[in-house]
Amino acid sequence: MKFFIDTADLDQIREAANMGVLDGVTTNPSLMAKVGVSDVKGHYLKICEMVDGDVSAEVISTDYEGIVEEGRELAKIHPNITVKIPMIKEGVKAISTLAAEGIKINCTLIFNPLQALVAAKAGAKYVSPFIGRLDDIGQDGMNLIEEVRVVFDNYGLECQILAASVRHTQHLLNCALVGADVATMPLSVIENMIKHPLTDKGLAKFLADHKKMTESVQ
Ligand code: G3P
Repeated sequence: MKFFIDTADLDQIREAANMGVLDGVTTNPSLMAKVGVSDVKGHYLKICEMVDGDVSAEVISTDYEGIVEEGRELAKIHPNITVKIPMIKEGVKAISTLAAEGIKINCTLIFNPLQALVAAKAGAKYVSPFIGRLDDIGQDGMNLIEEVRVVFDNYGLECQILAASVRHTQHLLNCALVGADVATMPLSVIENMIKHPLTDKGLAKFLADHKKMTESVQ
């Protein structure tokens, strides 16, 4: 399973990359706005130079011509760039065009398995089903990941399931259990996944026993 970080914050990306287990980055216009990016292309380039893996850069256009033009421009920034395109009709047309040109696509804002199927057929490298946002409206976000997995496996589709809107480690564990290819998550989830109170307690005991032993032989 690949781990992506879902942020445009360079310090957080560096922190996760330094752990050596980061496979890529996803951003969206809200995340870019959160860190106050003025030079958008320059910011994407910095991210690409920090991480050896796919970096999703989202288009703002919503018409076919605009999405295609923006997608081509974004793809020129760096080979790691994956153009993120929303699941709308004009987006599907643009995915077909850009994917045929060899541009990597992440189709975003996926909320049902048929949207994922369409994106895969159009040639997207990734689909991004949003778990947390479905949970927020009282639906079962994990069920969507399970259904997309079944649909893709039924037809041997190579499109990767990039589980998004991952809010906590239980989401992450469930993604791993049902076979999501990638999970993108905030730094807090990456850090929380390595924590366990018994690990801390056990380590404290090991270190205390070691200290006792070295003091007793002095
Ligand atoms: O990048 C898309 C997705 O991961 C956003 O998550 O927490 O804003 O629903 P969230």
